[in-house]
Formats: sequence, structure tokens, C-alpha cells
Amino acid sequence: MTQAKSLNNLVVKEITSVAARFTLKGKKAIVTGAKGGIGRATATAFAELGADVAIVDLPAAVGESEAVAKSLSGRFGVKSVAIGADLCQENDVKEMTRRVVDAFGTIDVVHSNAGIFDMGDNPQMPVGAFKRIVDVNLLGMFLVNRECAEVMVAHKHGGSIINTVSMSGSIVNPTRTETDYMVAYTASKGGAKHLTKAMAVNYIRHGIRINSVSPGYLISGAHAAMSQKDVDWWANSVPIKRFGEMDEIVGIVCLLATDLATYFVGSDIIMDGGATIT
Ligand SMILES: NC(=O)c1ccc[n+]([C@@H]2O[C@H](COP(=O)([O-])OP(=O)(O)OC[C@H]3O[C@@H](n4cnc5c(N)ncnc54)[C@H](O)[C@@H]3O)[C@@H](O)[C@H]2O)c1
Repeated sequence: MTQAKSLNNLVVKEITSVAARFTLKGKKAIVTGAKGGIGRATATAFAELGADVAIVDLPAAVGESEAVAKSLSGRFGVKSVAIGADLCQENDVKEMTRRVVDAFGTIDVVHSNAGIFDMGDNPQMPVGAFKRIVDVNLLGMFLVNRECAEVMVAHKHGGSIINTVSMSGSIVNPTRTETDYMVAYTASKGGAKHLTKAMAVNYIRHGIRINSVSPGYLISGAHAAMSQKDVDWWANSVPIKRFGEMDEIVGIVCLLATDLATYFVGSDIIMDGGATIT
């Protein structure tokens, strides 16, 4: 039997400054799915807290990613680069991390946030559509987590990786009516939540903390194609009776990124206006 480690000296320490620790000054960050929605919001918040930020999104969106990067350097005086990558492709992810290391020297913080959903998500959906959702939301997240963590290991420093899961990782929510429940999205997000824990337990020995945030319905731009009827139906299904906003998610991602969150390992933080209570 292995010997239990001796306990820490059980002296209650005085707390240090919260404000001083709520910073990313000098940190090198990556945000995926960062040309719009939640990713652009957290990239902006990381830059405001002092991090250099790589804006990673699909190759076809690189023009939009460049506009975000330019705006962050202008507003906050940090370095920001735009990188096009299809995160389901292993080579794209390896090339993306190589380019970030070239630009910034290393990687300290990662918000692995790229993801997709499909309004035709139900048991009769085509296999190709099911696979695409799982590829982006689960395989892509695995590749980003692994490649970024391996850079941190090689550079012999810790870091923080935050995955965007969803409340759909904890409940099975409707696509638009109570008779039509998401299948691929919920499976991919349930997998992403558990992937977070599996990666966390593997990498914490290197000082790399991996956690996830699970938002409910947020106005991010991703629902622009939905009808007003569907939007109203979703909003009314949540105890708070409205969608959440970008301002309401950035704080929790920033918290996990900073040294205020050094005891979070493999946690999933749900932020959903009460949607998962009932
Ligand atoms: N908005 C919500 O209500 C909500 C709720 C829960 C979870 N989420 C999750 O939050 C994350 C961000 O969603 P959002 O609402 O900001 O949507 P969004 O569509 O604005 O952002 C997703 C981004 O991911 C990018 N992307 C998609 N596939 C990619 C790939 N293969 N490689 C690289 N980039 C890719 C898209 O181009 C897009 O910019 C997703 O993981 C989503 O599942 C969103």
C-alpha cells in the first residue's frame, strides 16, 4: 500500500489580494471559436486583463478573426494574432499551436470554445451531421486540450485550459419543442464534460488545470437563424425567463484562467439562469 502523503501544515493563511490576482498580465492565451460569440467576448476579456491572445477560428473566417485581433491590440495594447484552423484536423491543431508559440513564445491559458449545434438534431438526423457535431465539439476539444497541454509540459510550466461545454452536457434539452430532443449535441457535450475531467486528472501533475464552463441559452449570435417563436420558447423554458448575455459569461471564464482558481481541477461550472434546476 502506498504511504499517504503527510498533511499540509494546518495553519490558516491570511488571504492575499483578490484584485491583484484577478489578472492575466503577461500570459499567453488562445481562444478557439473566437471570431464571434462567446469566444470573441472571452478573448476581449483576456486582453483587458493583460494577456496576449491568439484568435483561432475556421480558415474561411480568418478575415473576421484578423479584425478581432486588430481591435484587441488597438484597444488594450496587447499582442494578438489571427489563426485559421479546422480544429477537427490534428495537423491543423498542431500547426496552430506551433504558430502561437512562434508568435508569443509559449501558451499559458486556453479557452477551448469552438462548437456547433444543428436545429435538425434528432434521432433521425443523417449520420454525417451527427459525426460533424461530435467531431467539432468533442474530437476538436480533445485535440486542442492535448496539443496545448503538451506545449505547457514541454515548456515546464503549468497553465489553465477552460472548455466550453453546455448545460446540454448535464441535461437533454429540446431542439425546439418538447417532442424533439437534441441527440448529437447533448452526446457531444456530455462527452466534452467528461473529457474535461479525464484530461484534468492526467495533466494536473504538470500543474495544468483543466475545467469547463456550461452555459445555458446565451445571446451570442449563434441563434440568429432561429425563428422568434423558437427563441421565445427557449427563453420561457428557463426559470430566469430570458437568454443570458456575453457580459454574464466572461467573468467565470476569466476566473478559471487566473490564479484565483488554482484549486479548480476538472470542475464544470454551470451558468444557465436556472435551466438545469427543473
Ligand atoms: N450560445 C449559447 O447559447 C451556448 C450555450 C451553451 C454552450 N454554447 C457553446 O459555446 C461555444 C461557442 O458558441 P457561440 O454561441 O459563441 O457560437 P458561435 O457560432 O458564435 O461560435 C462558435 C465558433 O466556433 C467556430 N467553429 C466551428 N467549427 C469550428 C472548427 N471546426 N474549427 C474552428 N472553429 C470552429 C465557428 O466558426 C464560430 O466562430 C460552443 O461550444 C457552443 O456549443 C453556446
